[in-house]
Amino acid sequence: MTTAIIGAGNVGQALAHNLLRHGESVVFGVNDPGKHRNAVAALGAAVRAVGVAEAVAAAPLAILAVPYAAATEVARVIPDWQGKVLVDATNPLAPGLAGLSVGTTNSGAEQVAAAARNARVVKAFNTTGAENMADPSYPGGMPIMPVCADDAEARAQVMALAARLGFEALDCGPLSSARWLEPFAMTWIDLAIRRGQGRGIAFALLRR
Ligand SMILES: NC(=O)c1ccc[n+]([C@@H]2O[C@H](COP(=O)([O-])OP(=O)(O)OC[C@H]3O[C@@H](n4cnc5c(N)ncnc54)[C@H](OP(=O)(O)O)[C@@H]3O)[C@@H](O)[C@H]2O)c1
Repeated sequence: MTTAIIGAGNVGQALAHNLLRHGESVVFGVNDPGKHRNAVAALGAAVRAVGVAEAVAAAPLAILAVPYAAATEVARVIPDWQGKVLVDATNPLAPGLAGLSVGTTNSGAEQVAAAARNARVVKAFNTTGAENMADPSYPGGMPIMPVCADDAEARAQVMALAARLGFEALDCGPLSSARWLEPFAMTWIDLAIRRGQGRGIAFALLRR
């Protein structure tokens, strides 16, 4: 299975590590593939870096892992997504992590969906830190990965991906639920970075 990852930064590389550990292949979509040559080579033979459009064409599912400021522009790079699944892992962070620049009567994910013509947009991989995306194993249980999308089949596909990567995938319903998942990401950021908990924390769901 090949997954396209647009952006080869913290989140892109973390998800790539996890996918590779599970025997899957990754094609990074980046602006300048040459710039990432050494980092990609270090990840092994199952990874390559190409332009954004070429990466999207090479996989049934693409994960958007760029700064939110570039997200809608990148979504428009593909004139017609032809029903492909586009996983929005971005958060519309305000400068200095002061809050979110979109919400809560709208969401970054809905903005991405408006820009990505004929894409089946799914919000996922935005509510925890990159380190957890690389390795979600914790002694106390399985971290959750909330997933929302209007297309139920695409949502199920991304929930299955999250489960393969070691998360308890949570069905959070339609894409408008991103209005809650993006502020939820701020809660992780606030605890990890501002409140001294550090980046080795993850949310889990308890039941009785
Ligand atoms: N870091 C986290 O723990 C975390 C957790 C959850 C969600 N997120 C969200 O995930 C997104 C990525 O975060 P990150 O920490 O991975 O950021 P990052 O380390 O800064 O990496 C961003 C990547 O996006 C690429 N990029 C920027 N503009 C682009 C464009 N127009 N076209 C194609 N690629 C472009 C950059 O390319 P170059 O390398 O060529 O500059 C870089 O590879 C953000 O929206 C963030 O809010 C982050």
